[in-house]
Amino acid sequence: MSKDYSNGAAHVRGAFVPIDEATIPVLDWGLTRSDATYDVVHVRNGAFFRLDDHLKRFQRSLDSLRLVPPYSMGEMARIAAQCVVLSGLRNSYVALVSTRGRPRIAGSRRPQDCENTFIAYAIPWIDVIPPDVQERGAHLHIASVPRISSRSVDPTVKNYHWGDLTRGLFEAHDAGFDTTVLLDADGFVTEGPGFNVFVVQDGRVLTPDRGALEGITRQTVLDLCAMKRIDAAIVPLRRSDLLEADEMFCATTAGGVMPVSRIDGHIMSNDGPGPISMLLKEFYWAQHDAGWHMTPLDYENFEEPYAARLGA
Ligand SMILES: Cc1ncc(COP(=O)(O)O)c(C=O)c1O
Repeated sequence: MSKDYSNGAAHVRGAFVPIDEATIPVLDWGLTRSDATYDVVHVRNGAFFRLDDHLKRFQRSLDSLRLVPPYSMGEMARIAAQCVVLSGLRNSYVALVSTRGRPRIAGSRRPQDCENTFIAYAIPWIDVIPPDVQERGAHLHIASVPRISSRSVDPTVKNYHWGDLTRGLFEAHDAGFDTTVLLDADGFVTEGPGFNVFVVQDGRVLTPDRGALEGITRQTVLDLCAMKRIDAAIVPLRRSDLLEADEMFCATTAGGVMPVSRIDGHIMSNDGPGPISMLLKEFYWAQHDAGWHMTPLDYENFEEPYAARLGA
């Protein structure tokens, strides 16, 4: 019987499996030490968005952590694409992950002794902030827990060190907010759990200059602003910039441009999404539909270099 990939497809330990069967060994340092990096690219209407930019960032992350997966970048991209094709998903998140793996010599504590892994998977698209919440504008809480120092964990290397972000989420949910944004130990705005943040002040679109992933969506917002001749900049931002903002929005692969209407006690744009946020959100999706930075997948005629291992 052929396997059911409709919930998503993964590639682990050299084989394609349905997402619900994708597992990693308990002794993988990716699990025991959060020693891993990853990237997530989305597929919209059957085409990747900014695939090359995601692959370049993934390579930078791998290099930074001295991870060497057992495939070339071209092979990894192809495996990830094959996960999408297998799943048949037209709208999907596609993750490329590399973990430190397990030491080849049992008990070794040397990261050099580990057999680095590559995992890919494609799962159905779900916005990180649900569409109905985006429609009224998300309510954000400024967490009391500071973002982990970027001198300890480089936030520009996409990572699973989410302890601070998760604490911020609990705090926000306990206080009745949708999600959270973290400041660093010096009081500067960084990012939220899975997204970059932007404020709009006097018509200028601003995003933090520190403590955050250099998001592909963040870059896209800056590009879209340039195309629309909206003044935009990467600058230091403090708590007061959030609490005095005219508008605010979050930006991520997992949802695009997502408007915010409240940040703690500060209510913006008559308690709804602001006009510049909405303009950028709509332009973001319109540019997708126009084929900007899109790489279409061929679902029908996908060459299958790994067909023998599919077991389908
Ligand atoms: C911590 C963090 N910041 C920002 C982002 C947004 O990055 P991108 O736009 O590349 O998805 C993500 C994405 O998942 C993230 O995990």
